[in-house]
Amino acid sequence: TRPVPVIAIDGPSASGKGTVAERVAAALGWKVLDSGSLYRIVALAATRAGVALDDEAGVAAIAASLPARFEDGKVLLGGDDISTDIRSEACSVGASKVAVLPAVREALLGRQRDYRVAPGLVGDGRDMGSVIFPDAQIKIFLTATAEARAGRRYKQLMEKGLPANMQSLLDDLRERDARDAARPVAPLVKLPDAVLLDTTELDVEGAVAFVLDLVRDRGLAAG
Ligand code: CDP
Ligand code: CDP
Repeated sequence: TRPVPVIAIDGPSASGKGTVAERVAAALGWKVLDSGSLYRIVALAATRAGVALDDEAGVAAIAASLPARFEDGKVLLGGDDISTDIRSEACSVGASKVAVLPAVREALLGRQRDYRVAPGLVGDGRDMGSVIFPDAQIKIFLTATAEARAGRRYKQLMEKGLPANMQSLLDDLRERDARDAARPVAPLVKLPDAVLLDTTELDVEGAVAFVLDLVRDRGLAAG
């Protein structure tokens, strides 16, 4: 039997992974895995529980039980809707801190693989193609200049009514990119078998069309 097809979209912060993944999945009728949201939830849950973000055993225990539920596009932690809170810059930085801990990554591994169900999955993150789905039929490395990405994140935060400052966004993004690329476990890398897609000069529609063309070229979906 043919394995369930996976499109792995990895890349630095605010390169458009989530937006492109959702649009591609909607076009194909496939599932999506926003893997970054898991690290965000773990960071928020740890902070609320008073667990230090460098306490590997403590944070891994939270990751293993992951007390959050996904309901109607919302993320609920206990009785709270944390959908907006996990998108804050503080939570982005917290996510990248817990993401360096091997035991935390290990605790989230099986849960991520469970998203791979027919007719297909689009996963976005840092290690979709390298660790979680190394046999993914399509691997994309989505990127753009740091300035373009910080500008997009600024606009996105403003639209959500969250505080945003262009210079601190650019600083956070560079710091987080460096941490994600330098860590020993599951670092962000452009894999040899990944297709590079630079969206500095490309809009969302263009990026989505590029991925859907690859899907057709590789015979992964009808149409
Ligand atoms: O998931 P990731 O952090 O990589 O990025 P995102 O949240 O999907 O995208 C960040 C923002 O950039 C969104 O508001 C997108 O609409 C926008 N974007 C864009 O303007 N042009 C692109 N080619 C891709 C994304
Ligand atoms: O939206 P953005 O690209 O800024 O971040 P995200 O994809 O939600 O991920 C937040 C943080 O979680 C990243 O900076 C990574 O440190 C970590 N992460 C990871 O290590 N592995 C993944 N597969 C996804 C996210």
